[in-house]
Amino acid sequence: MLRVMVLVSGGGTNLQAIIDAVAAGNITNARLVGVLSNNRTVKSLERARNAGIPAVCVSPKDFADRAAFNEALLAKVDEFEPDLIVLAGFLVAIPQAMVHKYSNRIINIHPSLIPSFCGVGYYGLKVHEKALERGVKVTGATVHFVTEGMDEGPIIAQKAVEVCEGDTPEILQRRVMEQAEWILLPKAIDDIANGRICVKEGYVVSC
Ligand code: GAR
Repeated sequence: MLRVMVLVSGGGTNLQAIIDAVAAGNITNARLVGVLSNNRTVKSLERARNAGIPAVCVSPKDFADRAAFNEALLAKVDEFEPDLIVLAGFLVAIPQAMVHKYSNRIINIHPSLIPSFCGVGYYGLKVHEKALERGVKVTGATVHFVTEGMDEGPIIAQKAVEVCEGDTPEILQRRVMEQAEWILLPKAIDDIANGRICVKEGYVVSC
């Protein structure tokens, strides 16, 4: 049984998709052992508790500086002894110490077709604002392993989503979630839990 921990910052619709997929049997061989948020007030913590999953908050506001927060974040994650860490809208830079300790065991969902609209400054709704500004006709979402560089790790899966005339960032965000994110992320967890994918020489391959 893969021990899965989910890290969130916001509303947690991706977290909900994961919870629902486990309940429906679409993710097997995995157990959600904990949810961590950097934000005390988010709906995600409520979603976790409603599903009977231990939920905790580690907020940068409670620490003197970034280094102290990073240390506390890693210590809290370690307590859950996860085999896989899922960044489901976790909008905090992952400490390098965590990236190294959990090498090939952290995955992230990003709301664009990487390498478009990713990296520093591209997160949440901003990604869709930039896509609309640029006038792209197709966007999408990407699930990838987390490495040192932001949004640079080996790609697990991508799905394209059409941009429609009259889209606002909010409308486009919702379509990308519905047609891509909520499908890709649970499937990636299921694939990892069942040993269907692995990383070889920096690329994700079928095992
Ligand atoms: C999602 O769209 C996710 O892809 C994005 O934040 C949103 C969180 O929504 N993540 C990033 O931008 C990471 N760079 P949710 O809290 O409803 O799942």
